[in-house]
Amino acid sequence: MKYYSIIIVLALMSCSHSKVSTNKDTVEERFIDSILATMSIDDKIGQTNLRGTSSRAKTLSEELKEDVRQGKVGALLNVMKVEFVDELQKIAVEESPNKIPLIFGRDVIHGFKTIFPIPLGLAASWDTDIAKSSSRIAAIEASSVGIRWTFAPMLDIARDSRWGRIAESPGEDTYLASVLGKAYIQGFQGDSLNNPTSIAACAKHYIGYGAVEGGRDYNTTVIPEPLLRNVYLPPFQSALDVGAATVMTSFNEINGIPATGNEFLLKHVLRDELKFDGFVVSDWDSVIEMIAHGYAKDEKQAGELAANAGMDMEMTSKAYEHHLKDLIKEDKVKERQLDEFVKNILRIKLRLGLFEKPYRDKNNEANFYKEAHLAEAKEAAIKSAVLLKNKRILPLSSATKVALIGPLANAPLDQMGTWTFDGEKEHTVTPLKAFKEAQVNFKYVEALTHSRDRSKEQFQKAVDGVKDSDVIVFVAGEEAILSGEAHSRATIDLPGAQEDLIKVLSKTGKPIVLVIMAGRPITITNIIDNVDAVLMSWHPGTMGGVALQEIIYGLREPEGRLPVSWPKKAGQLPYFYNHKSTGRPANKEDYVAMYDIPVGAWQSSLGNDSHYLDIGYTPHFPFGFGLGYTAFKYDDLQISKDTIGFNETLLVKASITNVGERPGKEIVQLYTQDVVGSITRPVRELKGFQHINLNVGETKEVTFKVFPRQLEFTNHKGIRATEEGDFNIWVSSDATSGLKGTFYLKKECQ
Ligand code: NOJ
Repeated sequence: MKYYSIIIVLALMSCSHSKVSTNKDTVEERFIDSILATMSIDDKIGQTNLRGTSSRAKTLSEELKEDVRQGKVGALLNVMKVEFVDELQKIAVEESPNKIPLIFGRDVIHGFKTIFPIPLGLAASWDTDIAKSSSRIAAIEASSVGIRWTFAPMLDIARDSRWGRIAESPGEDTYLASVLGKAYIQGFQGDSLNNPTSIAACAKHYIGYGAVEGGRDYNTTVIPEPLLRNVYLPPFQSALDVGAATVMTSFNEINGIPATGNEFLLKHVLRDELKFDGFVVSDWDSVIEMIAHGYAKDEKQAGELAANAGMDMEMTSKAYEHHLKDLIKEDKVKERQLDEFVKNILRIKLRLGLFEKPYRDKNNEANFYKEAHLAEAKEAAIKSAVLLKNKRILPLSSATKVALIGPLANAPLDQMGTWTFDGEKEHTVTPLKAFKEAQVNFKYVEALTHSRDRSKEQFQKAVDGVKDSDVIVFVAGEEAILSGEAHSRATIDLPGAQEDLIKVLSKTGKPIVLVIMAGRPITITNIIDNVDAVLMSWHPGTMGGVALQEIIYGLREPEGRLPVSWPKKAGQLPYFYNHKSTGRPANKEDYVAMYDIPVGAWQSSLGNDSHYLDIGYTPHFPFGFGLGYTAFKYDDLQISKDTIGFNETLLVKASITNVGERPGKEIVQLYTQDVVGSITRPVRELKGFQHINLNVGETKEVTFKVFPRQLEFTNHKGIRATEEGDFNIWVSSDATSGLKGTFYLKKECQ
């Protein structure tokens, strides 16, 4: 330790960002070079090794300790006992050949102990403050047990709700993903990475993982370069703009080359174009999975391909450990490539302050479930909840006699959602618990034990149970295990006998408030007419029950808006609002419904357009949609100029009035459409949004600035530019409605 301490302070003063050009002459780089100069090839390879362990391990294996002692490990994943973290770090900094500290990583995805709504839920908040505070709290809690690196945020654009990992995604929109991604990183990494409560973020999965065919996890992607650059890449670019320390490669192949062995993506795009100077980690075994992909013939070639592509640190598999030395000897991989890996890794270790303070900060002890953390988790759940339907039933008055029912009404584990290894269900406040604590007028009726329960045995008991109530609150959904990694579904209806029970209960004539807790949009066309309100709470986390109780009784209103289009049927997927127009755009006039086609009709496609005969062409609820407890009127769209030049700014204004009966919050959205492009452009693209609060009868003028730069895109020739021409623009409350205007963007403005 002493060895390093003299120059560290100087080095730290010169660094904190992962998107700077690596100036060889900085103190930081000289420090890194000085360590590198003392390292053998074996020591260097050791740094590229991210060793996986089991978080449930009861003892620390002697083999692991020995490997750390010999400098064979650069980072560790899932070491969850504080004593083990301390012991391993002590071995690394006191006994390993170069005394280089380890980084301890963990999937801290939406909270550590205090669990926030799943990322898709947090995305529904459209709120960068809550995204940032949730990841700050996660970092404070996780760093207290020695974790200094999280594998988050996930920035995969997800356009298919069958994909289980949509739960962990920021949804379908590039702009929303970009602004939220930045906020998460700022929260995880704090003001400076070397603050002991900061944890290095990992922008993942680079890239295109959300585009897997048919929503099947780990599947293939085909992403033409314009699509890659216009849709999938911008969130990563934003992440690097705010200094994301690390990037994880994705499992999928892209256009035939696995992301983990993709030199174009890792060297050309990430390093040369985006100037990333942190380190790239592969996903779990994704180096050796290149064999199954049919891209590498064996472990050795997989290592060679990953190394030459520029992949720095290998997660769990051991292709580098086993073969990199030979590959260098055989001149198949250059030693200077390995040196680059080590420098990238040491740079982040240095920025984390690990050379100076390798151990946990003892003052940052057990900050779990603090009151302020729980309060923020409740706030996040309220901001994430999206009201999809309300036949003037919500909010309920305190006098209403409620029957609380449904498999997710008291499911403390499932309520936390996917990727919550560390959250403890004993701390979860379920709706049942919250209703009890708030002493509302309700009774709990048990029927289905879990979301996949197919038994109808308790249906009659349920019907009897709700008889003396005024309203049924049915908390439906999916268990946590039905979404997340490797948990894709071909149909996304409510599983088990939930739909049947809802239908049976609706026959009682009691109004039903359907609350959904799930990791993805759930298709509800079969039951939408049987219920009076639908409230989507995603998997809302530790404080979800309190948030729901407050929303249902009107102490707060649901504030979320959909970050994904909500499909009518899984067969409609992938579906996303920013699709292309097509040569025969779907529209009301031309729509032909399946049962309207005369039997024996003459075969013709004329007059038809791009729609499904059976479900039409619209989603059930559009991207950006969400109701509150009041209503808003949009009018008086003003566009500052009909024509603007490339260096000018357009001002777009609209007046929003609260025409309902209570104060409320609205998320005002701005969309544009480039009408004609050198490649076809989406029918709409989100370019901005603002949160406003309005009292009853109050009007606010909302102003958006549009910079021509925001309208640029990459075309088929690889040219990234804003093009002259007509644009449509909307100020609206979702992606399909709103006040529409136009303007012309001109190269030379008169
Ligand atoms: C595989 C997942 O794809 C990735 O997101 C995660 O961070 C790693 N496993 C580590 O658990």
